[in-house]
Amino acid sequence: MEVRATAVEDVPSGGCKLAEVNGTRVVLARVGERVYACADTCSHRGGPLSEGKLAGARLTCPWHGWLYDVRTGQCFLPTRGAAIATYSVRIEGGDIWVEVP
Ligand code: FES
Repeated sequence: MEVRATAVEDVPSGGCKLAEVNGTRVVLARVGERVYACADTCSHRGGPLSEGKLAGARLTCPWHGWLYDVRTGQCFLPTRGAAIATYSVRIEGGDIWVEVP
């Protein structure tokens, strides 16, 4: 289902923000003019990705430094294959809508 997560202006440009969307913890990441949404839980040991560092589309887990691409959810450091979920995002009238299960 598609749920309003927050306003675009609540997500810092070039940064990310945690949102609880229909019971799912989602990281909203603002990359340029776009917003991407992915799971908050690192696939390594469950670190909170919303507290990590965003550089471009790369999000670093604050616990042990695994790196994810927020556009695809793919982990590319240290290894490919350990992906996290991503969610479709739609922006309308300054609000961010996220498609969650
Ligand atoms: S829990 Fe994220 S890198 Fe270890």
